[in-house]
Amino acid sequence: MEIRDTMLPVLRPLGGEEEVQALREVIESGWWGKGPKVAEFEEKFAKMVGHKYAVAVTSNSHGQDLVMKAMGYKGIDVINPAISFIATAMVPLWNDCTSNIVDVKRDTLCIDPDDVERYKKPNSEVLISVDEAGVIADYENLRKKFGGFILQDCAHSCWTPGAGLDGDAAVWSFQAVKTMPAGDGGMITTNDRELYEKLVPMTWLGITSTYARTNKLTSSPGYSWDYDISVLGYKCYMNDLTASVALEQLKKLPKNLEWRRHIQRRYNEELSEYIEAPSWTETVQNYSARVSAEHRDSLIKYLADKKIHTSVHYKPLHKHSVVSHMNQREYPVADVEWKRLISLPCHAAVTDDDIDYVIHWIKNYFTEV
Ligand SMILES: Cc1ncc(COP(=O)(O)O)c(C=O)c1O
Repeated sequence: MEIRDTMLPVLRPLGGEEEVQALREVIESGWWGKGPKVAEFEEKFAKMVGHKYAVAVTSNSHGQDLVMKAMGYKGIDVINPAISFIATAMVPLWNDCTSNIVDVKRDTLCIDPDDVERYKKPNSEVLISVDEAGVIADYENLRKKFGGFILQDCAHSCWTPGAGLDGDAAVWSFQAVKTMPAGDGGMITTNDRELYEKLVPMTWLGITSTYARTNKLTSSPGYSWDYDISVLGYKCYMNDLTASVALEQLKKLPKNLEWRRHIQRRYNEELSEYIEAPSWTETVQNYSARVSAEHRDSLIKYLADKKIHTSVHYKPLHKHSVVSHMNQREYPVADVEWKRLISLPCHAAVTDDDIDYVIHWIKNYFTEV
């Protein structure tokens, strides 16, 4: 098979005329800030996931941070999984907390409830759990082993029916290579009305909504410029430009997820002799296969030479020096398994020819070695 001219990305967004048109409408409307598109997106997203309330923000990371701040968690211990993106270990540090990293289960690479029980401390009040690569974590056992606040990081499980409903609040991501990309952005969803009401003004320096005041949705006649700020707020609300793209991606989500599952099925079936397939996921945020540690890096290089971009999701969090000093212990699963991880191209822009191409070169690698 001939080598391609261009690199096949491991992850990428796919947009079209619909997103361009949606953006054009917002640009021409004269309202680019937080307005009707954000409200529509929050309403539709909450309905999809089955939570009563949704607050759109600039990113999942800031969404997690806002939940910590709204709940008043500061200077405590926060448990999070060894295999995850750095956000889950960093958010505790923003709140003067310790980041207590625990091991994952070998099959799912999600946080191990037994390890949570083993390493929780008297001041472990929050647990951030990740639905790694789209596989839903074991919430039933997490609830049994941990009595504190569970912040469900759903950056990878957007959207598996039922995802997000097991924690005390769920946080989603619309970052550029997620299943529902909007450039960047996040959403906090919850059934807790009190938490929701705290979060809304916190996304904008304590202000509730300029759109509501401008459009006479309050009792004041016309634009009401006066407001009182009574709470500490930040600056991380989503704007209508982002929400307009997210709304288009929301419509395409079922089709895009079906395609990701098709890619997953093909890799699982046609590479079964060569790789260990990941646990099945409905969203396939990353297709994280496992190979023997001795082959992982040479396979990455071999595929790069064939213009196939792969990745590793993830190097364990306790290996990052910003948190390693807080987590000086052995991680029998994460330390072994991460060296075997290789993510293969999986996104809405991958074609069946691309899948053939990836499968061909992986088979070729293992035939040549
Ligand atoms: C598991 C996980 N959590 C959190 C994040 C952070 O999301 P965002 O980029 O929206 O802040 C990511 C992003 O890659 C992620 O993979």
